[in-house]
Amino acid sequence: MRLTGKAAIVTGAARGIGKAIATAFAAQGAQVVVSDRDEDAAKATALEIGGDAIAVKADISVDADVESLVQKAISAFGKIDVLVNNAGIGATTLFLESSREEFERVVRINLTGTFLVSQSVAKTMVSRKSGSIINIASLSGQKGGVGRSAYGASKAGVELLNKVMAVELADYGINVNAIAPGPILTEVSKTMHTLETREAYHRLVPQRRYGEPEEIADAAVFLASDEARYITGHTLNVDGGFLAAGLLFPFDSKTSTKLADEK
Ligand SMILES: NC(=O)c1ccc[n+]([C@@H]2O[C@H](COP(=O)([O-])OP(=O)(O)OC[C@H]3O[C@@H](n4cnc5c(N)ncnc54)[C@H](O)[C@@H]3O)[C@@H](O)[C@H]2O)c1
Repeated sequence: MRLTGKAAIVTGAARGIGKAIATAFAAQGAQVVVSDRDEDAAKATALEIGGDAIAVKADISVDADVESLVQKAISAFGKIDVLVNNAGIGATTLFLESSREEFERVVRINLTGTFLVSQSVAKTMVSRKSGSIINIASLSGQKGGVGRSAYGASKAGVELLNKVMAVELADYGINVNAIAPGPILTEVSKTMHTLETREAYHRLVPQRRYGEPEEIADAAVFLASDEARYITGHTLNVDGGFLAAGLLFPFDSKTSTKLADEK
């Protein structure tokens, strides 16, 4: 029970990674607000989690929704100890074919939404001089993947926002960290990732597999716990080695062809 006594908001928690995080937090003793713009699914998830979990409908890119989310969390649990900015949307469109509308929509939800919820929640943490904010970024914000101009730029923005918030909120006892997942098996990646995308990940990720939502949740539990008290401004990659990988091929020192001057 590493989160006993803590109250947490997880955005985009109706399904996928957010649901796994909310479930893991509750299993570790936290009181959880399962927030999502999909109200029915959020309610179903909160019911499934049971205990103190409550569902709150909120679109993170709408100011009034964010304000009411924070108020409802405070009236339910009296405080917010942990915020996980998980809600986000994906997009895979070639740069030359991207529209202004799509670019702005992705940035508005993934980056501006993260800013809005963080600021609103941080204002409640400041007076208590304690809190933890965890931002779900992405490997697409660190590497230039095909089709990821809007999505990658939004997630790179989240990583920089993560650093600035960590610096400015340190005096108030608030820790701010990000998790950058590699490819994770969720409904979205199951339906949106083409065969080519899947094959590319299996070729490029040293562990040769997609991660599970629960593997992101494990990292989130650690960052939300007191064990992470001296960690702030950090991005924890949970990516099967994807970022670390350079040349990646089956090398056999006996059979590999040597250049003439090495023989
Ligand atoms: N699945 C992956 O491979 C992967 C990899 C790297 C990063 N991520 C990031 O992890 C997070 C979760 O991804 P997922 O795969 O679980 O996605 P998902 O689509 O399964 O779940 C996202 C949830 O967020 C909600 N949501 C979307 N826009 C919202 C908004 N404006 N306001 C409130 N809720 C909103 C959706 O209703 C949904 O329930 C996202 O930020 C995503 O960018 C995912």
